[in-house]
Amino acid sequence: MKKGFKSISLLLVVMVFATILAACGKNGSGGEVSVGIVLPTKDEPRWVQDEQRFKDALSGTKYTTEILFSQGSSAKEKENVETLINKGIDVLIICPQDGAAAAAAVEAAKEEGIKVISYDRLITNTEAVDYYVTFDSLAVGAAQAQYLVDNAKGAGEPLYLYAGAASDNNAFLFFEGAWKVLQPKIADGTFVIANSSEAEALKDKAELSRDELGKIIGQVTTNWDANEAKNKAQTHLTAASADLKGDVAILAPNDGTARSIADVFASDSAVSSFAVTGQDAEKASIQYIIDSKQSMTVFKDVRTLVTDAMGMAVSILDGKSPETTGSYNNGTIDVPAKQTNVIVVDQANVKKELVDSAYYKAEDFQNLK
Ligand code: GAL
Repeated sequence: MKKGFKSISLLLVVMVFATILAACGKNGSGGEVSVGIVLPTKDEPRWVQDEQRFKDALSGTKYTTEILFSQGSSAKEKENVETLINKGIDVLIICPQDGAAAAAAVEAAKEEGIKVISYDRLITNTEAVDYYVTFDSLAVGAAQAQYLVDNAKGAGEPLYLYAGAASDNNAFLFFEGAWKVLQPKIADGTFVIANSSEAEALKDKAELSRDELGKIIGQVTTNWDANEAKNKAQTHLTAASADLKGDVAILAPNDGTARSIADVFASDSAVSSFAVTGQDAEKASIQYIIDSKQSMTVFKDVRTLVTDAMGMAVSILDGKSPETTGSYNNGTIDVPAKQTNVIVVDQANVKKELVDSAYYKAEDFQNLK
């Protein structure tokens, strides 16, 4: 009898607490966390870099934030968003693992009145995205391609194409930007496509539709995975005839894949030289550039992206409307966006752009001149 009474009162206490928590949690300053941040994976240095830059930017602010990683899983990502919704967030900053699959997660946030900022990668085919902060991804691809054009060694140079993950809208933008620069140089005989029958079939088309881009990306995707990139490069070089070796050009979509593709090409004695692109200015690739093992990278100053994302979040929390510079169509709506420029880095300016700018420390590298 006494025992029963105790558990009823305990239950009452729990219920009262739950009600208070629920009341505090929604759309008010009473929530435990005001801005929730969800990043795709800790397995790629790019996103660990973003986490650190968020932490640097947030130290000393009055806003409470929490950063969760989805570890390459859309299911985990949805769970992360639900956790943050339950903590009473007012703004969600999210970089999706898979742009289309993330729609369900942000729709759940939207239903709770939370504002959603798509971070770096656009969430597609949903109305539940309020803002987008991004680098100029078409310019990233164009800069990579221009580098290969500028460093081409005469006519008929074999061109190896690699792309990001087809589940990432950016992979389409990067490749689209690159194709616009490369296609005329394939048409005039500067380059010969070495590893993609899909690109070969489309080589006379200056403008590719999303479906056409999808065909090429589907064939030469790395899935943003360094191992997959390595395996593909090995398969391509094993299949390549002697005339597709010698001096070659390689479009690699980012630094992680560039390093593993470069290692494979470096170990083939029939490849006499190669130019290989990258993206993200990862520390390991900066060392590769210093050591002449990777030709270039596209530096995306994550400090700016973080500042823009947090600036938007704070405007929203203060009841103001965030500044935007344009918009991106996500398949359903035009999402108001803030876009940041990128910087091409190679051996000539690596010190100036990455060390003198205080992005990295000189002691992070060896033989930096
Ligand atoms: C892209 C991102 C790149 C790159 C890649 C792999 O969406 O814009 O910077 O890191 O994902 O994670």
